[in-house]
Amino acid sequence: MAKSGRKASFTDLGKHRKRLETQPMRLQFAEDPNRFERFSARAGDLLLDYSKNRIDEEAMAALFDLARAAGLEERRTQMCEGEHINLTENRAVMHMALRYQGDRPVPVDGKDVMPDVRAVLAAIKTYTDAIRSGEIRSHTGEQFTDVVNIGIGGSDLGPAMVTLALEPYTRPDLRAHYVSNVDGAHIHDTLKRLNPGTTLFIVASKTFTTDETMTNAGSARKWLAESLGEEAVPSHFAAVSTNIPACAAFGIQEDRIFGFWDWVGGRYSVWSAIGLPIALAVGYDHFSAFLSGADAMDQHFLSAPLEKNLPVIMGLLGVWYRNVWGFSTHAVLPYDQRLSRFAAYLQQQDMESNGKSVTLSGKPVAWSTGPIVWGEPGTNGQHAFYQLIHQGTDVVPADFLVAARPHESMPPHHAKLVANVLAQSEALMLGKTEEEVVAELKAQGLDKKAIKSLAPHKIFPGNRPSNTLFYPQLTPEMLGSLVALYEHKVFTQGVIWNVNSYDQWGVELGKQLAKALLSKVEGTSGAEDHDSSTRGLLAYFHANKGGPA
Ligand code: F6P
Repeated sequence: MAKSGRKASFTDLGKHRKRLETQPMRLQFAEDPNRFERFSARAGDLLLDYSKNRIDEEAMAALFDLARAAGLEERRTQMCEGEHINLTENRAVMHMALRYQGDRPVPVDGKDVMPDVRAVLAAIKTYTDAIRSGEIRSHTGEQFTDVVNIGIGGSDLGPAMVTLALEPYTRPDLRAHYVSNVDGAHIHDTLKRLNPGTTLFIVASKTFTTDETMTNAGSARKWLAESLGEEAVPSHFAAVSTNIPACAAFGIQEDRIFGFWDWVGGRYSVWSAIGLPIALAVGYDHFSAFLSGADAMDQHFLSAPLEKNLPVIMGLLGVWYRNVWGFSTHAVLPYDQRLSRFAAYLQQQDMESNGKSVTLSGKPVAWSTGPIVWGEPGTNGQHAFYQLIHQGTDVVPADFLVAARPHESMPPHHAKLVANVLAQSEALMLGKTEEEVVAELKAQGLDKKAIKSLAPHKIFPGNRPSNTLFYPQLTPEMLGSLVALYEHKVFTQGVIWNVNSYDQWGVELGKQLAKALLSKVEGTSGAEDHDSSTRGLLAYFHANKGGPA
């Protein structure tokens, strides 16, 4: 689809917007008792209710036309067939192979990758079973009690998010910790509570060159060696990387190096050996169930008609709001405390993928691309930023996520949680009209003058869009499906925006400049070649680094 085609589609969709501006959702619900049936879809047990969006059948049809015209189905096939759709890095995009449960070969560059994928999974199982059972012990002969994963970005956010989400499947005697920040406070505060004799480190880095990770790994190694001696390092370190020689050079034993491949993007790597700390925390079988849940979503994405396809529907709604209505952010609001890092995880998945401003052929895009993704678990968010979502000047499309069944039997918590999530999407959709506010204030006995001055503050515009994802329970399978759902949503949007969702050149400049600035921060070279702001900030740093006089 040519650039003019996409622009024309967005213009055409603008006509649907004009029509829908006069039909608030409140009215649409009143007129159509079947709106929920019309605008909800399922993938297995997972329900997507998208009826509380500014849509009707015509608008949705136009969005599906856009997806077809943009070549979504063809692009999906190209991805599955191992074509190098990551053009700027000349790589295939095959994270789906990591969780594939079928028995067909999955060729990448002429080679079936499944035997290697399964061999690494088998190695993960053997190693994690042995650590969990105490068969593999520490240098001091003790059973490991704490696992510290050292990684950043895709080598941290996925496993950290999943470990929190699957807390009911963890063991109290084997705790997982995640260290990512180069800020020494992170590793310091993590290690200060740990016993070197029972601590296992996983150094997770696709490249094994990332400065934050290598710095933290060096400090962890020093901490261990100072207490147990250098000879303890091999028993206390494992590594996950595509760069096997660098892991070996760090001193990690060959049978404790778990590989993956360049066709797995960092932010899509939670399914690879990057999931090692998950398997340690919840056991291999639950990790495996997480993979099969993702595969179930892959099969849905690959086979369901676009009109019933959850990731496609969610992707198109995102495009609708970003390009036709001009909404620039998207909130992810899990009513599931254990998904407290889900929005942070999705920030990398979405914003590193689609935060691009050139097309696949390197031309400037003529439309907005990836939204700003943010969010926190409900109900906490209700007491923080929901005010703006309900009554602020910006419209924030939101995804609500909630389980029908909690893991703990603690009435009335879950009923209250569910009541709140339902209330929020209803309130956003309905709003509260002036007449309703006036009637309410009258009923409270306020006089005319008081009503007049208070009413404007109590009106809710409503017509604010949201999706609700409802699932039976947050199991490993369901979590896998949810993560894969968002991956395919991001893919769908990347195809429509015609960007490369699989590179991340935008993170490079800061890395280069940080390297160049280090000697100036350390005071071994001057900063004359920098701008006056950077020089001023460096001067402040040097004047104050010794601490208060
Ligand atoms: O932030 C840039 C990035 O390259 C991410 O894409 C990646 O997940 C992260 O750094 C960590 O990279 P690595 O796994 O190679 O250490």
